[in-house]
Amino acid sequence: MKVLVAGGTGFLGLRICEAAVRKGFDVVGVSRKGAPEFLDRAFPPSWSEKVTWVKGDLDSPASLDSHLKDADAVVHSVGIISELDYKKLMKEDLGPKAAVEELLKLGKQALMGANPMNTRSYMSVNCDSAVNLAKQFAKTTENPDKKSFVYISAFETPLVPKGYIESKIAAELRLKQFPWRNVFFRPGFMYDHFRPQTEIISRFVDCAYDASRQLGINALAPALDTVTVASAVANSIADSTIDGVVTVHDIPALSR
Ligand SMILES: NC(=O)c1ccc[n+]([C@@H]2O[C@H](COP(=O)([O-])OP(=O)(O)OC[C@H]3O[C@@H](n4cnc5c(N)ncnc54)[C@H](OP(=O)(O)O)[C@@H]3O)[C@@H](O)[C@H]2O)c1
Repeated sequence: MKVLVAGGTGFLGLRICEAAVRKGFDVVGVSRKGAPEFLDRAFPPSWSEKVTWVKGDLDSPASLDSHLKDADAVVHSVGIISELDYKKLMKEDLGPKAAVEELLKLGKQALMGANPMNTRSYMSVNCDSAVNLAKQFAKTTENPDKKSFVYISAFETPLVPKGYIESKIAAELRLKQFPWRNVFFRPGFMYDHFRPQTEIISRFVDCAYDASRQLGINALAPALDTVTVASAVANSIADSTIDGVVTVHDIPALSR
């Protein structure tokens, strides 16, 4: 089974590549920079040496033809929630206090319905890049009915900017037109121990989720570990009965 992971060097993408390698898949990880930084270290994780790391830009996906043509599955794990503050929030050297401040700023922007991005729109990164990739896959692959496409969408909540969710839903609708098995993952906030600030934020997210459930409000979701989401993605590639939306609540069971 050959799997191409677009966004393979990202926060979630790396975990998807790892989970896919552990499942015995032949994995191609694509991003504009190509390979993850840790490959230059003396002892990169052994799974990472089994991935074919490729430079590619989804704005011009024709360069990926040689990898797409015999891929059995494609994963799109590329997206932005808010350019400046989100990237700052995810920086590894940000302390817990600064991380919480950035999160509050992000929440304020979301409540105001603002899009703080100046250079790349939600629609171009979250939706158009996925459709570009799907079109290129459709052009190069044979037997599309035997293939699958996994799109990392998101849980809809009032806490994220409206434009972000709209771009995710638009992508799902457009991807549904392609003839293969489409799987749309809708996680909420994700954390990973290699970015400790995300673990701190996840505790706030889970407290808010628990409190909202006590009040009978269904607008929030629990935080999920990237390893859990990635493992569910790899399992969904292997299991042809998984089709359509995988909600935030379905993900833990699918990861096992
Ligand atoms: N993080 C969360 O809590 C969360 C929650 C719900 C949903 N999601 C969704 O999960 C997905 C992954 O998120 P993430 O947090 O892992 O994002 P991320 O860390 O920013 O990773 C994005 C990846 O995409 C690559 N990329 C960006 N633009 C590209 C392009 N034009 N062509 C090729 N590669 C490109 C990036 O590498 P280069 O910059 O080198 O190209 C990177 O590898 C997104 O769709 C996001 O909306 C995330």
